[in-house]
Amino acid sequence: MRRISLLGTGLIGMFYTMALHRHRGQDRVHMVYSRSRERASNFAVQWGIPRHTTNLEEAIRNDESDVIIVALPNHLHEEAVIAAAEARKAVLCTKPLGRNAAEARRMLEAVEKAGVFHGYLEDLCYTPKTLNALEATRRGSIGKVLWVRSRETHSGPHSDWFWNKDLSGGGAVIDLGCHCIEIARSFIGKDVRPLEVVCWGDTQVHPIEAEDHAIGLVRYENGAIGQFEVSWNFRGGMDLRDEVAGTEGTVWLNHWLRTGIEMYTAVNKGGYVSEKAESNTGWLFPVGDEPGALGYVDMFTDMLNALDDGRSPRETFYDGYVVNAIIDAAYAAMASKQWQSVELPIWRGSGAAADGANLRDFDAEHVLLKEEQMMDGSTKYILRNKRTGQIVQRTQP
Ligand SMILES: NC(=O)c1ccc[n+]([C@@H]2O[C@H](COP(=O)([O-])OP(=O)(O)OC[C@H]3O[C@@H](n4cnc5c(N)ncnc54)[C@H](O)[C@@H]3O)[C@@H](O)[C@H]2O)c1
Repeated sequence: MRRISLLGTGLIGMFYTMALHRHRGQDRVHMVYSRSRERASNFAVQWGIPRHTTNLEEAIRNDESDVIIVALPNHLHEEAVIAAAEARKAVLCTKPLGRNAAEARRMLEAVEKAGVFHGYLEDLCYTPKTLNALEATRRGSIGKVLWVRSRETHSGPHSDWFWNKDLSGGGAVIDLGCHCIEIARSFIGKDVRPLEVVCWGDTQVHPIEAEDHAIGLVRYENGAIGQFEVSWNFRGGMDLRDEVAGTEGTVWLNHWLRTGIEMYTAVNKGGYVSEKAESNTGWLFPVGDEPGALGYVDMFTDMLNALDDGRSPRETFYDGYVVNAIIDAAYAAMASKQWQSVELPIWRGSGAAADGANLRDFDAEHVLLKEEQMMDGSTKYILRNKRTGQIVQRTQP
């Protein structure tokens, strides 16, 4: 059983507590920190948390908690992580790790120097659907992953600080792209180095300094492409979808809208529907188990099991640092309208070179490019002559 100090009582603090305290969960939030005494006290009462404080240091240093969860706005992650490392406490930090790679690197170095356990709370790499698809990919069911397209769009964040570039580090890319980038890395392989990024981003709707919509491509050393599509301008709820295309197969994942429960109501009886739902009449798409569907439950199981077992979790601060480095390149690309290289002075993956798809020999002279059953019952083969390079087709009745 772990006793946790939770820093922050906003949306994510609530989701984390729901995930940890659900059913008969043995790990508990023991102390909660908020700037406001009233908010800290109300949150503690609501979730059965024995202690609350308005003092960040007290929440981190108190002897009764052995894990710190950072659920504060982005500009406060570094200060909280450094304080946790100095107190020699295990620390789990929400996404994005930093506002940029320099901040993320300082956090990574602080926890590693202190020798404390660290986990990057990237829940969308832990949804039950994603874990299932990642396992199928690991088994080779879709062959070599060539292209991962990941989308997170909604109508914009729920608190002021997200919209302030200085506090958040950017707009939709830092807020939502961090999820999409890490989802793509997970499928392509975390050992494979991200090389360069091109990104379009613009402020289409809102009067803010940052981008409220962006689309980017991340090119990996083995030839794979990660594509992220993020927006704060999308109407109709929260669209969370991933597509993974490999040499031998394809996976499509839809995490939020139209995933099982579809309900029509003509009358507004109030009540919550699901995160970022825009309406509570008409056709609604409630979610049976929000903390489970968003990955929070499996994420904390992995994090706290890893802590108990003395191993690293699936997502560490190193992953958060790599994601921040990719985002830095995306912002540079957005400004320059050019491909920008991903600066990773700390790289711990392999140096895998690009490898081609596994093409089958058709006969001694030809390699098979494509085989297709035609409507007339024949089979067509597209072949390349190994010696001359000529491309020909053969048809078998
Ligand atoms: N899926 C996810 O993993 C996910 C989802 C939402 C948010 N987040 C992340 O969680 C963090 C918090 O986001 P949120 O949605 O909970 O935000 P929020 O605005 O709902 O809550 C933030 C909390 O921090 C407090 N706070 C704000 N400014 C502060 C300050 N200067 N000092 C101390 N406390 C302050 C607020 O009062 C509030 O309790 C962010 O880093 C965000 O990116 C992650």
